[in-house]
Amino acid sequence: MIGVVLLFSVFHGVTADDNHCPSGWTFSTNTSYCYIQSPQYMTYAEADPFCQSIGGSQVFIFTSRELTWLTDFTSASFAQPWLATTRNTSTNIWYNSDNTSPTASYWTTGEPGINGDCATFKGTSAPGLKATPCYSIQPALCRQMPALCPTIKDYGGAYTRSGTIQSPGYPVQYYNNLDCLYTITSPANTYITLLFYPYVLEDFFDYIDVYDGPNSSYPFLGTTDNWWYLRDDFESSSNSVSFIFHTDNIITDKGWLLTWNAKSNTPPISQSGQNGSFTSPNYPNDYDPYTEQLYYITAPLGFQVNVTITDFVTEATFDVLEVYNSSYVSSNNLIANLSGSAVAPWSWLSPSRYVTMRFKSDYMVQKKGFSLFWIIQ
Ligand SMILES: *[C@@H]1O[C@H](CO)[C@@H](O)[C@H](O)[C@H]1NC(C)=O
Ligand SMILES: *[C@@H]1O[C@H](CO)[C@@H](O)[C@H](O)[C@H]1NC(C)=O
Ligand SMILES: *[C@@H]1O[C@H](CO)[C@@H](O)[C@H](O)[C@H]1NC(C)=O
Ligand SMILES: *[C@@H]1O[C@H](CO)[C@@H](O)[C@H](O)[C@H]1NC(C)=O
Ligand SMILES: *[C@@H]1O[C@H](CO)[C@@H](O)[C@H](O)[C@H]1NC(C)=O
Ligand SMILES: *[C@@H]1O[C@H](CO)[C@@H](O)[C@H](O)[C@H]1NC(C)=O
Ligand SMILES: *[C@@H]1O[C@H](CO)[C@@H](O)[C@H](O)[C@H]1NC(C)=O
Repeated sequence: MIGVVLLFSVFHGVTADDNHCPSGWTFSTNTSYCYIQSPQYMTYAEADPFCQSIGGSQVFIFTSRELTWLTDFTSASFAQPWLATTRNTSTNIWYNSDNTSPTASYWTTGEPGINGDCATFKGTSAPGLKATPCYSIQPALCRQMPALCPTIKDYGGAYTRSGTIQSPGYPVQYYNNLDCLYTITSPANTYITLLFYPYVLEDFFDYIDVYDGPNSSYPFLGTTDNWWYLRDDFESSSNSVSFIFHTDNIITDKGWLLTWNAKSNTPPISQSGQNGSFTSPNYPNDYDPYTEQLYYITAPLGFQVNVTITDFVTEATFDVLEVYNSSYVSSNNLIANLSGSAVAPWSWLSPSRYVTMRFKSDYMVQKKGFSLFWIIQ
């Protein structure tokens, strides 16, 4: 007995999104899977091997959204395709192929009946599962994950110091069921800052994990969403960083836009004592693009720090010396952003014994920078 009988073909129209799926499969924006119903008819036992032979697996219904989609997808078909849902005949409990049980409301009216231990999908009025004898001859219904993740191996490079990356489908809608790896490398002796903004994702279930190296076998730097708190910025310790964008099987949103920058990996300059001075890197020659230099001043207990800038020329707005009235960088303690050519002479007396400064330059227009001295009082 030949179980596979060719009756008629059921192929569905190809839309723009179908380029995520192999030829002949249909992409569902509702579930983010690719689907195909076989033109061949077969028994239940033949259906899953058939799906696997074409790179997929048999469908069982995991959300009401998929039920709606399948109703639409199979509406042109007269036959009821197999689902990967069977009855355990000793317990009378129905199981999907992943050992979950189908939600009661996914059965069509009056089902599951006693007539059959395998399930088919009835797409017409009151759509849903229907118990069917396993030896019955029906089409197979297969699905597979589409190739939605980008194929770019490295978003940076030895001469690339900044860039943007967006989630698949941004800013309209990302897809379900993703595990996309993104890797960025930057020039030697730099580190990488990441800022995910805008970031509009399904809370908690869709998130990004960041790693301090080219893949997830490197140290974990953190996640964007851990229930308690959303985080949008990360920093690598070297010139390589990666992250994995995870999405679950339901609910999507606009997605994310990442801006990344390579920063020079220069050690902070720390000074203490009664007085001191420092300059921007290379001063009086031009500083480099993407400079980031930290300066820490610590005066003896009971003293304050008087900082005097004697010379100052930077690209206005973009190359900035930030001054903090604390022993660390914190936006709450920022007292000035200095840039341009009209700053010097400038002097300021710290309220405490600590002063922190950070000089940052961008990729365009380099100037000679600054020179300053400090003295306790
Ligand atoms: C798919 O989703 C869109 C938008 O969420 C909705 O308008 C449409 O009715 C859905 N179609 C099916 C078949 O579920
Ligand atoms: C049916 O359920 C029984 C009891 O839980 C179990 O021992 C048996 O392996 C199940 N049969 C199948 C085919 O899964
Ligand atoms: C991670 O990257 C390292 C170095 O490039 C490589 O040796 C390793 O095989 C990668 N691991 C995985 C899981 O890709
Ligand atoms: C700067 O500090 C040194 C000791 O570190 C001291 O000898 C010198 O007199 C100080 N200069 C001024 C102008 O206070
Ligand atoms: C800080 O030092 C500068 C230069 O020596 C001086 O002009 C200024 O008055 C001092 N500021 C304060 C508040 O003492
Ligand atoms: C430090 O600067 C911040 C921001 O300008 C200010 O709110 C705070 O009061 C300052 N701290 C002291 C000790 O002056
Ligand atoms: C410094 O610049 C940042 C970013 O442009 C801004 O948010 C902040 O308010 C500025 N702070 C001061 C003290 O000028």
